[in-house]
Amino acid sequence: MTTVAVTGAFGKAGRAVVADLLAHGYQVVATDAAGPTGDPGPLGVPLLRAELTDYGQALEALAGADAVVHLGNIPAPGHAPGPHTLNANNAANANVFLAAQRLGLQRVVWASSETTLGLPFDVPPRYAPVDEDHFPVPTSTYALSKVVGEQMAEHISAWSGIPFVGLRLSNIFRLEDYAAVPGFWGDARLRSWNLWGYIDARDVAAAFRLALEADVTGSRNVIIAAADTIMDRPSADLLAEVFPDVEITRTLGEFETLLAIDGARRLLGFEPAHSWRDHVGPAAR
Ligand SMILES: NC(=O)c1ccc[n+]([C@@H]2O[C@H](COP(=O)([O-])OP(=O)(O)OC[C@H]3O[C@@H](n4cnc5c(N)ncnc54)[C@H](O)[C@@H]3O)[C@@H](O)[C@H]2O)c1
Repeated sequence: MTTVAVTGAFGKAGRAVVADLLAHGYQVVATDAAGPTGDPGPLGVPLLRAELTDYGQALEALAGADAVVHLGNIPAPGHAPGPHTLNANNAANANVFLAAQRLGLQRVVWASSETTLGLPFDVPPRYAPVDEDHFPVPTSTYALSKVVGEQMAEHISAWSGIPFVGLRLSNIFRLEDYAAVPGFWGDARLRSWNLWGYIDARDVAAAFRLALEADVTGSRNVIIAAADTIMDRPSADLLAEVFPDVEITRTLGEFETLLAIDGARRLLGFEPAHSWRDHVGPAAR
């Protein structure tokens, strides 16, 4: 799989994915509904402007690729009216998955979301750490679009024989986002909405690359999060304060993520290489 189409290439995750794939010797066909065209352009490769809710444009965007990394979605609740988020993401996901089938691609790797697991946990999780089995608990049209996407992936994979990997990404942090981290520590409830999870954009990119290369059949979906929480106090203390009645299913490492990544470790050989601890100075801690 040497040529990879990347949708949503000009977005937060897309830029990191394109840079990582190019650095690892892949050819990249970058596409996005927005962003500067030009050759090579800021991504280092040309950007094809294509609107994925249009099947013909999705088909063109994937033509000639061996595999697709599909990131082009409205990326969170609240960015657009709720019904539009559901309709637009469903259309983009269906079109990309069906174009992959039509073109006979070898692999589809795409961005699902931690939100499928019950965020913002206004209803506490059934247990912690939350893992892949804490699904489906969508509470927004955005999360529902990802749940529907996982269902579409399962069936289109079965029809086509193409392996699909959905990555249930936690909240993505770029280097410039880490300055905000100490501001989270004073109030455990500020970030309880995703069990204090996060994921470095460089680790997102590595996870997509590993998912392109992993030995997978059918459609598989795994959580991608950092190995630690965003907080400077022990994970067990956070649970005791905000979710005192939630069952803790194993002995927790001191700062261990409460979005379990054992599934990604097993399926992809994923191991987060980055932490906010490498980027927030001791004075702030
Ligand atoms: N940012 C996060 O914390 C986070 C967490 C979990 C999952 N995700 C998922 O990861 C993916 C990438 O997110 P991001 O943070 O890079 O978002 P982003 O908004 O920075 O980038 C998404 C890109 O996709 C493009 N796009 C959106 N809809 C499109 C369409 N219909 N046709 C063509 N292009 C379209 C946008 O123009 C944008 O450049 C999304 O699928 C998102 O749902 C993001």
